[in-house]
Amino acid sequence: MADTNDKIKHVASPLARQTLLDGALTAPVAGKRPIRLLPWLQVVKIGGRSIMDRGRDAILPIVDEIRKLLPEHRLLILTGAGIRARHVYGVGLDLGLPVGSLAPLAASEAGQNGHILGALLAPDGVSYIEHPTIASQLAIHLSAARAVVGSAFPPYHHHEFPGSRIPPHRADTGAFLLADALGAAGVTIVEDVDGVYTADPSGPDGKKAELLRETSAADLAKFKGTLPIDTALVEVMATARHIERVQVVNGLVPGRLTAALRGEHVGTIIHTGAHQG
Ligand SMILES: Nc1ncnc2c1ncn2[C@@H]1O[C@H](COP(=O)(O)OP(=O)(O)OP(=O)(O)O)[C@@H](O)[C@H]1O
Ligand SMILES: [Mg+2]
Repeated sequence: MADTNDKIKHVASPLARQTLLDGALTAPVAGKRPIRLLPWLQVVKIGGRSIMDRGRDAILPIVDEIRKLLPEHRLLILTGAGIRARHVYGVGLDLGLPVGSLAPLAASEAGQNGHILGALLAPDGVSYIEHPTIASQLAIHLSAARAVVGSAFPPYHHHEFPGSRIPPHRADTGAFLLADALGAAGVTIVEDVDGVYTADPSGPDGKKAELLRETSAADLAKFKGTLPIDTALVEVMATARHIERVQVVNGLVPGRLTAALRGEHVGTIIHTGAHQG
């Protein structure tokens, strides 16, 4: 009788006798490459400040371009926050709000931008969907429509890392983390510049700035100066599991997004730490 009970109670598990803190012990089980959940998915991050804040002159051409891309690709379009988030950061910081309170405020603006894009693409069957739906029902939504729109902000919210007062994990990081978790086919970041330059092309040294056609997360980690992408993105790219490269393109130039999704090199390609195999 006692033997039977023992057998019922013991569920074989390869990690049962390991501490999860010892990488050498967990590696045989946890070191394998994860499966790709949506290998046909293209993730497109649309800049909040660089595209959405410019209004119709920038938004309508990109909407038109996305519409024409729908027969070719299945898209997860993720929007960033823009000027309204900068304002809310300013007010919140002045009031002493912690970073975990500021993150969801900025994320809600990224969501607003997503709702705008979703509304404009609604005639093509595209809707805005919330994070829980992205997490659990993205596949069914993308079976019903060629694309969906969501907020690019990761939902760290009150769990945002307290290392800085401005949330470090913003739209570029969120879009990349999601794409890598889904094992997507690619990630394209849409900005208002041709790619990553040696210095901010709109800054005081803008005239001397040169476009980096190709770079890597490792090189950008050593880069001194500002970038058009989140610093935290550079960190998460280093440990990516699936996404091997990200392309930053100029969404103000018609055709660049289309070309990037067709695999052409039209902006800055950033190689991540992920390897094929
Ligand atoms: N090294 C650099 N290379 C290219 N652009 C740079 C660089 N450093 C700064 N920038 C600036 O970054 C700007 C883009 O700003 P930012 O990334 O904040 O906008 P966004 O991507 O639309 O915002 P969000 O991430 O909230 O969606 C460009 O217009 C450019 O002036
Ligand atoms: Mg940017």
